[in-house]
This record gives sequence, structure tokens and C-alpha cells, in this order.
Amino acid sequence: MAIPWVEKYRPRTLRDIVGNNQAIAQMKKWAMDWDQGKPQKPIILVGKPGCGKTSAARALANDMKWGVIELNASDVRNEKNIKRIAMVGAVNETFTDDGKFISSKFGGRKLIIFDEADNLYEGKDDRGGKKAIVETIRVAKQPIILIGNDYYGILSGVWGKKLKSMCAVVKFRALTSAQIIKVLNRICRGEEIVCEKEALRVIASRCGGDLRAAINDLQAVAEGKKVLRVEEVKPVGYRDVKNQIYKTVLKVLHTVELNEARRYITNTDETPDYILLWVEENMPLEYTKTDEMVRAYEYLSRADVYLGRVVRRQQYSLWSYAIDMLSAVSVAKEEEYKKHPRYAFPSWLRVMSTSKARRDTRDSIGMKLGVIYHASSQRVKEDILPYFRVLYEKNRELRALYTYLLHLEDKEISFLTDLDVEEILKDAEKIEEKIEKKGEGGSA
Ligand SMILES: Nc1ncnc2c1ncn2[C@@H]1O[C@H](COP(=O)(O)OP(=O)(O)OP(=O)(O)O)[C@@H](O)[C@H]1O
Ligand SMILES: [Mg+2]
Repeated sequence: MAIPWVEKYRPRTLRDIVGNNQAIAQMKKWAMDWDQGKPQKPIILVGKPGCGKTSAARALANDMKWGVIELNASDVRNEKNIKRIAMVGAVNETFTDDGKFISSKFGGRKLIIFDEADNLYEGKDDRGGKKAIVETIRVAKQPIILIGNDYYGILSGVWGKKLKSMCAVVKFRALTSAQIIKVLNRICRGEEIVCEKEALRVIASRCGGDLRAAINDLQAVAEGKKVLRVEEVKPVGYRDVKNQIYKTVLKVLHTVELNEARRYITNTDETPDYILLWVEENMPLEYTKTDEMVRAYEYLSRADVYLGRVVRRQQYSLWSYAIDMLSAVSVAKEEEYKKHPRYAFPSWLRVMSTSKARRDTRDSIGMKLGVIYHASSQRVKEDILPYFRVLYEKNRELRALYTYLLHLEDKEISFLTDLDVEEILKDAEKIEEKIEKKGEGGSA
């Protein structure tokens, strides 16, 4: 599989981060101070998904030529892990990752990044991730960045409050459509794809300020193409990015904790049947061991059984069982895969939505023709439409006449032929004028 564009085009330097100028300036100043030997409070980057927080933190380290120790929620599940990984790096300032000796006086710094810090367990005493971070901060001699979506998620609870007093907050805003289009344009140039402006505008307007989602959408519809037209972007509309279905699927497939998976599923606005489609489509991209896949499919099929009963018996209380089964997909694996595949839109939904739209269009043409030919729409579909289509495509005059007579709409015309819709409509207008003139002449 090709590499995800979100990774391929992840900014390597702060100069390539689009928008959020104020936040970036704050980060730069903070890093400069560190480099001038003035230790600074850790900073917390908060903001909506996909606006560049993780990218900015990594780019900063890159610009400053600092090493990086990065932990995200799944690594930081408990205090022991944090101590093992972060503390060593935080306190020990003399060795780089590859074992070279560099004193921090000579710029040998390491940036410690706690990503997804709002998903940490507050936990009891020894399990609390936040507590471990607080303790790391207390002894750290290195710059630390915490990252999360949810300001209160990070700074709530006993240890969260302590964090709040120890850190400075840097706010990231969701990107505007114009900023998103700028990045999408950059990617299209990189991939040598010519994009209709409108196509990018549609993607940008549907992503709710989440650039990651926009880039994933772009890749889904444009990869391998030379030209991207606005029609091809339409399936993207079926994805409601606001509800972060991508993120939910990612969490369910990544975590190995049943409760955590359940929490993510119940916290989205999406219905279990929709989540099921997404998990089913993407599980095989993530899981590779056969026995784990078998277990995962077993759980999915049971979830499907419950969902079927919900519909048949109108008994929504069964949703909860379906959610349990969906959550269980997370524990079908022994341990987390460290993969980050590009998640795909459920193919079943994509096919259904395009074929349903096509069927609807065919039916509407069928009805219109049925009136003229005094035939049932079934007969039209079977006996008349195939021939009509050929005539419509071959004969310009007939095409214009029928476009006028049937009041064909754009999508109906496109269903019948690949010819230019605008031109056909112009021809139809001319016919209309002619007929009207004749009508006037006749009545005179
Ligand atoms: N401001 C930006 N400028 C350029 N590219 C960006 C920007 N924001 C996001 N991207 C692109 O989107 C991808 C995802 O961004 P990133 O991982 O930095 O988001 P995030 O804010 O950390 O999101 P989350 O809260 O979900 O972790 C990046 O790999 C990059 O390709
Ligand atoms: Mg991130």
C-alpha cells in the first residue's frame, strides 16, 4: 500500500506549518529560550484534531536540531512505562539516541513529547499517567511538550490541576478552508495531479477544519489520477468528519483495553451500524495475525446479529450489546500493532451510494419516457432505455429535442451520455425557442 499522504506531506519544518502563526511564534520563542540556557515550563498544545499540533512539535525539534522522545497514549498507559522511557531521557542529558555523548551545553537537547495527553488515565496512585508526567516534569532537565484535543481532559483531576500549574498553554485553532486548500494544492502539485479548484473547495468545506481528514479524503479520491474533477469528490460527502469516525476506528483498532474501546465508541455521535462498517473495512489493514482476525470477525458478526435484531424488533436496548461486541474487536489482538495504515471509507457504502444515485436517476428518466411512450417504467427500463440511450448519444437533433421535451436535468443527461452537458442544454434551449416561435406563428 502506498504511504499515507498525511505522513508523506507532514511538515518537517515550522516554516511549512500553515496557519496558527501565533502559536508557532510562541513555540519558537520557548525553544530559543531553552537553547540560550534558560529552562522553561513545559508547554501544552491544545486544539482540534488535524490542525498540526503533533507536526508542529516534531518540526520544532527538527528545526532546533533536538532529539525527540515521543510517547502517546498507548505507550503512556501507566507510570512504569513513563518512568522507563521518559525519565531516562529527561534526566540523562549526556547521550543521544545513537549513543553519542553531547552535553546539553552544546545543544544536545532532547524534546520529550507526550502526545494524546488527554487520553491518559488519571488512575489510582500507581497507574496514573498524569502523575507520572508530573513527576517527570519535576526532575526533567529537558524541554517537554504535552499535546491534546481537550483542554479539560488534560487539566482535570488532581494530577491535571498540578499539571496546569506547571505548564503554559499554547492554543491551536482549527484551520480555515483557505488554509486547507493551500495545503491540498501543495500536495496535488507534489503528486502531479491537476485538480479542479471546486473539487478542493468541496473537500475543504466538508472536513470541519481537520486537515488530516481533508488530506485522507483527497488521497482516497485522487491517488493515481492525473486529473481530479469535482464529481469524483462527491462520495466524500458521506463522511461526517465532525464526528471523527476516523479517530474512533483508529482508537478501537489500536487499544488493547476493552473499556477504552467502549468509551470511544459510546463517545461518538455515530450509530453502531455505521461504526461496524468502518471497523470491518479497516480491521484487516491493521490486524495481520490470522487467529486475531478470526476472533475480530467473530465479534463483528455477533455485533451484526444484534444490530439486525435492533432493526427487526425495534429494540434499541440491544445496541448496547452490539457496542460491547464492537469494542471486543480491540481485544481480539494480543498486543497493539504499531501500524498507521490509511483507513478507508467502507467500500460497501461507497458502492451503495453511487449505485443508488444512479438507480434513482435511471428511474426518473424511466418515468419521464414512460409518459411519452405510454409504457410502464419497468418496460421503459428494460425495453426502451437501452435503445433510447444509443439514439440520444448519436443524434444531435433528437438529443436536443428530447432534452427539451423531457426537461432532462444535468445528472439525467450525464446518465445518458458522456457528451458535454452545457452544450446539450444550449441546443435544447434553441429547440425551445424554435418551438415557441412556431407556436406564436401558428396562433396568429
Ligand atoms: N498546520 C498545518 N500545516 C501543514 N500541514 C498540516 C497542518 N496541520 C495538519 N497538517 C497535515 O495533517 C496531518 C495531521 O496533522 P497533525 O498530526 O499534526 O495533527 P494534530 O493536530 O496532531 O491532530 P490530532 O489532535 O488528531 O493528533 C499532518 O501529517 C500534515 O500532513
Ligand atoms: Mg496529533
